[in-house]
Amino acid sequence: MDWQLTEEQELIVKMAREFAQQEVAPRAAEVDKNHRFPGENVARMKELGLMGICIPEAYGGGGADYLTYIMVAEELARACATTGVILSVHMSVCTYPIFQLGTEAQRQKYVVPLAKGEKLGAFALTEPGAGSDAAAQQTVAVRDGDHYVLNGSKCFITNGAYADVFIVAAMTDKSKGTKGISAFIVEKDFPGFSVGQTEDKMGLKGSSTTEIILKNCVVPVENLLGQEGEGFKVAMTALDGGRISIGAQAVGIAQASLDAAVAYAKSRRQFGKPIAAFQAVQFMLAEMATRIEAARGLVHRAAWLKEKHRPVTQASAMAKYYASEVASWCANRAVQIHGGYGYITSFPVERYMRDAKVTEIYEGTTEIQKLVIAGNLLR
Ligand code: CAA
Repeated sequence: MDWQLTEEQELIVKMAREFAQQEVAPRAAEVDKNHRFPGENVARMKELGLMGICIPEAYGGGGADYLTYIMVAEELARACATTGVILSVHMSVCTYPIFQLGTEAQRQKYVVPLAKGEKLGAFALTEPGAGSDAAAQQTVAVRDGDHYVLNGSKCFITNGAYADVFIVAAMTDKSKGTKGISAFIVEKDFPGFSVGQTEDKMGLKGSSTTEIILKNCVVPVENLLGQEGEGFKVAMTALDGGRISIGAQAVGIAQASLDAAVAYAKSRRQFGKPIAAFQAVQFMLAEMATRIEAARGLVHRAAWLKEKHRPVTQASAMAKYYASEVASWCANRAVQIHGGYGYITSFPVERYMRDAKVTEIYEGTTEIQKLVIAGNLLR
């Protein structure tokens, strides 16, 4: 792995950083306060070619590599974690898996408009009784001639109320366990598809998190993603990529926490000097910076492995597990350095602390990441 970025990678990351800092960051507090989906950020990401950044140009994308996309995801999350997760879910667990695992017809029909940003993507695996135990799917899909009929409900679906295209997991044969699960590409306008309640969350308040209801939802046979019975592997492959981008999101939140803590420590005066002059604060900053670099290294390595089509399951689990804990730890330290000002909404660090927490939970909890890592060590 070459630590030197190419000229093209540097240009794209610079563009993304300028966009994120100049346009996205100034809106982040208002988006959070009003629980507002930042549609204008999504529109600008479409204009800038970010919605399909790591999809080949032939399929409407930007043609960049997975590492470049991951660095862009970090820059977005550093400015606004809500905006970061909109892109992350759209790309990592919808657009890219359809590109990677779909038929040529599915690529043309779905990847092209998703990569151009004309459509928004989402991923519907979780159910009320199938969270960490993703195999416990209750949604069923029954073949009826040239289509399947899906019945069930999904929960905690990021981008739920705004997405056009969903990857949906459902049981086609309950007797076969994980090998009885299939994955489908479902459009929001298919008969029997509807969006249920929107969740009111601790953080990521501008991101849409909803229930999805499938009531005799009619899905054409050609929308099966992979073969019948391969849905669990499709979902796990998607999550292998998704967890890298959640790791990048966590690094972005951690970096924002450090940025805020450094700036505050230099400007805040107590006992006749800036608090940055005290070793208690310096040690916290040093530890934050070191943990962030370690987390970033794991995230970049996982992205590199994915780009090279090498086994990535363990590396992505390590990246997500470590980076998410670093994000929460750094946001907590940033609040501590801000003292009372860290606990009020005039400063962004309380938002970072709320936004960081979910990176330890979604796309597989920290405990699930450890199970995946241990499973790879012990097999
Ligand atoms: N890639 C490909 N195949 C994989 C795989 C991977 N990463 N992981 C497992 N598989 C395969 C296994 O090889 C096995 O296949 P064989 O039977 O042919 O050997 C099959 O899948 C079953 O594997 P396991 O026996 O390991 O399955 P399990 O039931 O024990 O589950 C688990 C494993 C790791 C706990 C899994 O259920 C899991 O990851 N759970 C967490 C789910 C999750 O992350 N949910 C988040 C949803 S998305 C979200 O958060 C919302 C959002 O929008 C952001």
